[in-house]
Amino acid sequence: MAEDNSKWLPSLQAALGLDAVSIDPDVLHAFSHDETEDVHILPQVVCRPSSTEEVSAVLRIAHEFGVPVTPAAARTGLSGGAIPVQGGISLSMERLNRILSIDEANFQAVVEPGVINQVFHEACKEKGLFYPPDPSSWGTSTLGGNVAYNAGGPKAVKYGVTSAYVLNLQVVLPNGEILWTGANTLKNSTGYNLTQLFVGSEGTLGVITQIVLRLIPYPKVHFTLLAPFASAEMACAAVARVFQAGVTPSGLEFMERDAIDWTLKYVDGVSIPTGPDIAAHLLMEVDGFDEEAVLKEAETMAAVVEEAGALEVLFAQSASERDALWKLRRRVGEAVKSHSIYKEEDTVVPRAKLPDLLRAVKRIGADYGFQSVCYGHAGDGNLHVNIVKGDMSDSDWSGPRLQAGIRELFTEVVAMGGTISGEHGIGLVQKPYLDIAFSDTAMDLQKQIKALFDPRGIMNPGKIFL
Ligand code: LAC
Ligand code: ZN
Repeated sequence: MAEDNSKWLPSLQAALGLDAVSIDPDVLHAFSHDETEDVHILPQVVCRPSSTEEVSAVLRIAHEFGVPVTPAAARTGLSGGAIPVQGGISLSMERLNRILSIDEANFQAVVEPGVINQVFHEACKEKGLFYPPDPSSWGTSTLGGNVAYNAGGPKAVKYGVTSAYVLNLQVVLPNGEILWTGANTLKNSTGYNLTQLFVGSEGTLGVITQIVLRLIPYPKVHFTLLAPFASAEMACAAVARVFQAGVTPSGLEFMERDAIDWTLKYVDGVSIPTGPDIAAHLLMEVDGFDEEAVLKEAETMAAVVEEAGALEVLFAQSASERDALWKLRRRVGEAVKSHSIYKEEDTVVPRAKLPDLLRAVKRIGADYGFQSVCYGHAGDGNLHVNIVKGDMSDSDWSGPRLQAGIRELFTEVVAMGGTISGEHGIGLVQKPYLDIAFSDTAMDLQKQIKALFDPRGIMNPGKIFL
């Protein structure tokens, strides 16, 4: 902790200029939280560097004075990674927001970390190129944050998560040194993979200042289908069968009834069947280049889920119907939050274990007295379990019983061959459960890596391990 900022604040102001160093209470408040539950912890100062050199200057000062540094940008995270738990500096990456190049010959782009995901997606699309990772927050979340948490999103089921697109990174180490981690190549078997070590490291090893991303051709055809089920478990059981039929969907999402009802109330302009017999929906999409071939896949998928118990299968009839369905799906998290504070558990299991996972969630909820709303990337076996506070008292909400329930859930998830976060990271709120996912040796190795990069422990302290 560096309570007294008088020793280092003037150095930051001299390095960045007064305009880029804020102690305004409103700004500090804005950086005291992300989208995680209702946690707020104030930084002492917010720095807004505009270049790699300025990031380096901030870290050199922080390193010299032992000041905690918490990187942040859009603050859409769900595990508390951008919350400055030990005060110090919130390092906003928002001004590093340039797309430096989109290289159409090599299918690569170089971007700064503060570029908004959807802005980049659209810029690539204009050139016929596709950057698939599309977390629900893509309208606001930034590519740097996406890399730092190895973000997923609906398209990951066919195209892979962020890590599959990161070729090379420019990073600033906690002592201010600037380096590139790899090469701008599609393959690389040269030494340890420092690039991928930074992907998902949640700002604990250094600060990402440039990203080289791989791109692919933009698909030309999409078919989007909605399949209601009378049983949520049946919907989950249908998922693996789609893949077994030889179809790799470009989206296969699950939403249970409460998620749909709450979101329909929250968003405008979307209507889907919600008869009393419907317990869950699968939202499914296939894409590609050859209309006939993609339509055939859509029809196969429809037939498979019907055989697996879907009540009927609806095809989106227009681009606006398709957009409306995805809008509904992307807003579930916000809609649940508008209803109640919730704890987001980002469980992930091998795909065919999804029905077991859902059953475990509901059994544990009944045993430990919590209500959950489940939805997520079913094709990836990734179920977002929103534990709803509702009228639970504050002491029960942060008490040992609920923690024991979450521990039991994660223990079952790991026993199924899964793990405790698929795409939201460990950050602050999942840290108490990390021992479930890793042996002591695996934990210790990772702590040693952290100490090697950050011997003074200034980079996003209080997250993941320490
Ligand atoms: C989603 C976010 C919460 O899938 O990951 O909507
Ligand atoms: Zn998600």
